[in-house]
Amino acid sequence: MLTNLNGILREAYKNKHAIGSFNAYNFETFKGIIDAGIQTNTPIIVAFGAKYLENMSLESASAIVKSLAQDISIPVCLHLDHCSNMDTIFKAIKAGFGSVMYDGSALPFEKNLQNTKLVCQVAHACDVSVEAELGSLAAGEQSHEGSADDVEVFTDPDSAKEFVDETKVDALAVSIGTVHGLYKGKPNIRIDILKKINEQLSLPLVLHGGSGIPEEDILNCIANGISKINVNTEISTYTVEETTKLLGQKQPHLSVLALNQMDYVKEIVKKYISFFGR
Ligand code: 13P
Repeated sequence: MLTNLNGILREAYKNKHAIGSFNAYNFETFKGIIDAGIQTNTPIIVAFGAKYLENMSLESASAIVKSLAQDISIPVCLHLDHCSNMDTIFKAIKAGFGSVMYDGSALPFEKNLQNTKLVCQVAHACDVSVEAELGSLAAGEQSHEGSADDVEVFTDPDSAKEFVDETKVDALAVSIGTVHGLYKGKPNIRIDILKKINEQLSLPLVLHGGSGIPEEDILNCIANGISKINVNTEISTYTVEETTKLLGQKQPHLSVLALNQMDYVKEIVKKYISFFGR
């Protein structure tokens, strides 16, 4: 069953749960992620990053997810991840995405607010949910989302309140010490900042940089308003490692390799689902 982000996150936020948002870029990743949701009977957010448009068009991503989700009972949301280009946002809405992330975090506050507000007006008229970002994340090792020059700027709770009241976003990505990619040392997650943001807003909060966060931090984040946790890097690193092992033993037909890769994606996504669901 296809839904927008609100169809999944409102209930998760109310019940202090977090739902995984997993990045997909080819048929194997889409199928592995959705199968993990089906096998665990868990709602699932499939994120297609605007940076993967060379791998697949918005229309193809939408058609694949529609065909995989139409006859199943778990809610599935197709979400456009990290997009700073308004044209691409509007094309994703037209292509049938249930949710879009307008990422204006690199812009001055006022410009980010104005652009996000416009995106919300258009998206909401089409029953599409909107996630936005305030503050910015640094890049860890093997990051495929940011650049090495990204500097960490924590989200300011007072600005977050003004931003949400003005824009009417459905979910807000916060910067509280997580990084895109793998951690170089022990992460320093600022639960104190998250608590303040959550006290100011009654809104599902989003944690980017989900790969490799220690369980204790994850649980603390979920208890303080995080309802969506994004995972990309570890889906790739795990699948590539397993593929490398397999190719060290034999050279399967490409169709068989694809089936194995769907299983690797499914395994790692199920690991994160059980981790978030505890
Ligand atoms: P990781 O690559 O660190 O898992 O982060 C994913 C993410 O935040 C997607 O937006």
